[in-house]
Amino acid sequence: MYRPFFSLIVAICLCTRRTVAALMSGEIANSLNELAQQGFAVKDLVLEINSTFDGGPIPDIYTEMDTIVTVALTNVKFMTNTPIITNQAEEQIVYEGYSNFVQSLLELMDALSSSAAQLKSLNQTTINKIPSEVRILQTAVDAYFYNIIGLFPAISSYNTQANSQKAQVDTHCFRAIWAFDLDHSNGNKATHKPRSNKSLHSRWMKRGSLSF
Ligand SMILES: *[C@@H]1O[C@H](CO)[C@@H](O)[C@H](O)[C@H]1NC(C)=O
Ligand SMILES: *[C@@H]1O[C@H](CO)[C@@H](O)[C@H](O)[C@H]1NC(C)=O
Ligand SMILES: *[C@@H]1O[C@H](CO)[C@@H](O)[C@H](O)[C@H]1NC(C)=O
Repeated sequence: MYRPFFSLIVAICLCTRRTVAALMSGEIANSLNELAQQGFAVKDLVLEINSTFDGGPIPDIYTEMDTIVTVALTNVKFMTNTPIITNQAEEQIVYEGYSNFVQSLLELMDALSSSAAQLKSLNQTTINKIPSEVRILQTAVDAYFYNIIGLFPAISSYNTQANSQKAQVDTHCFRAIWAFDLDHSNGNKATHKPRSNKSLHSRWMKRGSLSF
């Protein structure tokens, strides 16, 4: 797994080369596409664990998700001085990279959701660790997406679509968290205590019930 470190080093080099950090559209798109590959790779790993019943590589899921977080947050730092993109071709390549990364995250979250029961039975620590990793990833990605969306002119359709995709990522992240939050997977594990009202799930349910 040298790729993540490579991305990071590239990012650091870019920063030192430009003392005032401002990334070019092509660089932003490349980074988004690399993150997408990373996202798809974690998804494949989750599916592999789910189908092989081998929990050994579970820690690799965390490592790979942590790498995505690091790269996303590093990119956020470099984007501070990046101006709004006004060239349509450049908007398009950034948007494509963005959509690609979004797609990988949606698929990763869906893979986690539908593998939750299996992962929980393979290793009990996933019950807390996966939701915690997903929350960290979601926070980092939110910050990154916020910055990317800010590159699109406010009235552009890129801006609107990117915002709606960001909301989809949030929804899928919550679903993945809930899948691990459920107490009754496979009917096993009496050791897992019921969640208090502070759990994300019950807070959400409360919020939901208020609006009905
Ligand atoms: C479960 O995962 C944790 C952390 O990833 C690891 O330390 C532990 O050895 C694993 N347990 C089993 C039974 O594989
Ligand atoms: C994970 O494995 C379970 C049980 O074998 C299966 O029902 C589920 O669909 C699998 N999930 C994915 C994403 O393949
Ligand atoms: C959750 O909140 C309800 C009231 O909102 C309360 O009756 C119940 O005891 C609480 N459950 C726990 C586990 O704290």
